[in-house]
Amino acid sequence: MEASQELEKSATNYALEAVRLDKQGSKGMAITMYQKAIETLLKLVQLYPEYSLNKVYIQRAIAYQERIKALQGAVPATPVQPATEGKTAEETKTTAGGVKASYEELIVKEKPNVKWEEVVGLEHAKRAVKEAIVYPVQRPDLFPLGWPRGILLFGPPGCGKTLLAAAVATEIDATFISVDAASIMSKWLGEAEKNVAKLFGSARKSALEGKPAIVFIDELDSLMGKHSNEVGGEVRVRNQFLKEMDGIIDKGKKLHVYVIGATNKPWDLDWPFIRRFQKRILVPLPDHHSRLMMFKLYTSNLKLAPDVDLHELARISEGFSGSDIKDVCQSAHLKVIGEFFESGQAVNKMAKPRPLRMDDFRQILEERKPSVSLDMIASYNRWFEAFKAL
Ligand SMILES: Nc1ncnc2c1ncn2[C@@H]1O[C@H](COP(=O)(O)OP(=O)(O)OP(=O)(O)O)[C@@H](O)[C@H]1O
Ligand SMILES: [Mg+2]
Repeated sequence: MEASQELEKSATNYALEAVRLDKQGSKGMAITMYQKAIETLLKLVQLYPEYSLNKVYIQRAIAYQERIKALQGAVPATPVQPATEGKTAEETKTTAGGVKASYEELIVKEKPNVKWEEVVGLEHAKRAVKEAIVYPVQRPDLFPLGWPRGILLFGPPGCGKTLLAAAVATEIDATFISVDAASIMSKWLGEAEKNVAKLFGSARKSALEGKPAIVFIDELDSLMGKHSNEVGGEVRVRNQFLKEMDGIIDKGKKLHVYVIGATNKPWDLDWPFIRRFQKRILVPLPDHHSRLMMFKLYTSNLKLAPDVDLHELARISEGFSGSDIKDVCQSAHLKVIGEFFESGQAVNKMAKPRPLRMDDFRQILEERKPSVSLDMIASYNRWFEAFKAL
């Protein structure tokens, strides 16, 4: 297969997976996959600027970008339809509208295919995750005192919690079961308790058969929040969850079942839940060096004018999350390519879009504020100080 066809195929696959996850309500993983689809499309356009379908690819990338924004802003909307998907809008609506979903529909068992190198910075968090999961799975004999089974990733939105969990899943040969806590409550109406038991049951089964299992619960606060409704059903689901966690912590020191929980509102978790996640890992905003590495990574496939100074971009993007920075780069790129098509130059097969200039980046950076405030950062640090060692 030609390289361009291969890229196109993989973009389509990422998009299909994203839409599937999106329909299930797996917000975090859906974002990860939409991101991969955008990246692949942009790479395709960059490598084959004369390709006749490029305009379509750009439109698709923009649609995915908008969907990511909607998901990040928690605006309920229907997932985008990748052009190749044969399903009708009706089918898409079935689960996106908050209608009841079956067990299988909310569980993600495919691996997300994210590599450690794709997670920029976060050296401390990466090491902590490796120590807590990767090493015990590889060499349980070296951990005679046991190891933690519950790992909590917390920190500001868009800094790599979901990405990190995805990288763990790719790294070790484990059964990866991912589910979004918000959808457990809203889409497993009446059956959430039973389905939580089933979820842990299948993780244990995998571990007993010799394959470690990771249960990833994204947006944990919506399941275990202090402020969530204390109506009967919800209490039972939470109790079931606590019981399952106890089951994997106490029994059989050799059983490889891990629970990774992720949240950007750790202060919403109540103590019984916090206690069961013995390892709590802060996933912070990127520092200057990490921002520089992100700008390098996200512009590595782009044509840059000589005036683009990545150090300067890292300096003026203080307070921006990884997700913000990625969005800045992609938006700058899309803006330039959009102009290229608008101006009609694209019909000339020899013409190429102009390289990105410093101004393109500046303009986008100025138009947006960092999505995380200083107050929020202080709250994460306070929470970490209070709970890291308890
Ligand atoms: N440290 C990072 N390295 C590389 N890319 C990152 C990093 N952090 C965020 N990104 C980019 O931003 C996107 C969103 O990140 P991710 O979903 O992991 O954030 P999160 O911490 O789970 O946020 P939330 O709390 O909103 O769920 C990723 O798909 C990735 O493209
Ligand atoms: Mg997430």
